[in-house]
Amino acid sequence: MALCLFALLAFEFVISSQGLPGGFHHRAPFKTSGPYSIAHRGANGEFPESTVPAFKRAIQEGIDIIETDIGATKDGFLICLHDTTLDAITDVAQRPEFASRRATYPVEGENITGFFAVDFTLDEIKSLRVHQRYEFRDQAYNGMYQIPTFEEYIAIALEAPRVVGIDPEIKNPVFINKHVTWPHGKLFEDKYVETLLKYGYNAPYLSESWLQQPIFIQSFAPLSILRVANQTKSPKIFNIGRDTDLAQDTLQPYSELSSDAYLDFIKSYVAGISTDKNTIAPIDETTGRLSPPSDIVDRAHVRGLMIHPATFRNEAQFMAKDFRADPYREFDYFLQGLRVDAVMTDFPSTLTSYMNAIAKSPDLWKSCEV
Ligand SMILES: *[C@@H]1O[C@H](CO)[C@@H](O)[C@H](O)[C@H]1NC(C)=O
Ligand SMILES: *[C@@H]1O[C@H](CO)[C@@H](O)[C@H](O)[C@H]1NC(C)=O
Repeated sequence: MALCLFALLAFEFVISSQGLPGGFHHRAPFKTSGPYSIAHRGANGEFPESTVPAFKRAIQEGIDIIETDIGATKDGFLICLHDTTLDAITDVAQRPEFASRRATYPVEGENITGFFAVDFTLDEIKSLRVHQRYEFRDQAYNGMYQIPTFEEYIAIALEAPRVVGIDPEIKNPVFINKHVTWPHGKLFEDKYVETLLKYGYNAPYLSESWLQQPIFIQSFAPLSILRVANQTKSPKIFNIGRDTDLAQDTLQPYSELSSDAYLDFIKSYVAGISTDKNTIAPIDETTGRLSPPSDIVDRAHVRGLMIHPATFRNEAQFMAKDFRADPYREFDYFLQGLRVDAVMTDFPSTLTSYMNAIAKSPDLWKSCEV
């Protein structure tokens, strides 16, 4: 008995000295295969996007992975922020002390005017309050929460009562590297990887360690993915934009970056790709109905690459008419019909309900032809 207790304590010491969150306690494990449910910017259908309550709500609602974009402040801190500017989701424009920070910068070939995060220190950004991006969603939480740091986001996953994955996107790297100077000649991407390494994220997809701390690294920038490929074993997902859009760093159109030749090139260092759901299942603009799906899912799968489409939203305006405003039908079409490897949604509770129902009864939506 005494020996057992000693062994247990010794084991606990080993575990906590490896920096596992919360020391020795049992957390419900992560799934050992996909498809994955991913909460886009947390439960941002309910709470303002990429805030602590949005991430925590997604976890309460049973999501596998919480997703966010990562940006940077003037003083080189990494934060959870999608846009280059703070205008769309904070009260920055109502703050007289910051009025002089309004600026116009070229961003990916377009002149953008607003309050840019790269012109604010972390302390200043923490003084702002976040609000809901879309006026047709719940405004009740406006003005209550701050923009979290990358480290605060990681802590939410590590401290969750079960194993929860993260899906941080290296956002706007060309713009950020132009405006923020990093010590020792490093880049935004290096700081991003250093942060992940600090918290123990550095394991190949589906390895024991990965299953303890699941992560997908994502970026739309081909050179960012290449740069981090040599610095971390964590699986990378290359985000593919619309065909005619240009990658921010190489300026190649994404039609070229989704070609067979390019997928053959990246398959040695990425675990998968992500695309807009409409790239996989295009919507006819005149009828609002689905056109035949593209071959991108098969072209990824034959190369052993996952495909993670984004972004699923419960509101009818974001869906093909075929789904009749029913998000379950849409999930079923992509997950069971097209066999994508993950779904990224603004409404994690809906996706969890769908996943739970399908686990018990895979044919549940078969009769609901789209
Ligand atoms: C952005 O503004 C600059 C300075 O006014 C101008 O020279 C440039 O043509 C503009 N670029 C675009 C894409 O409008
Ligand atoms: C990554 O490593 C490979 C092989 O060691 C090398 O050929 C490549 O140039 C490196 N890429 C970067 C971006 O450092």
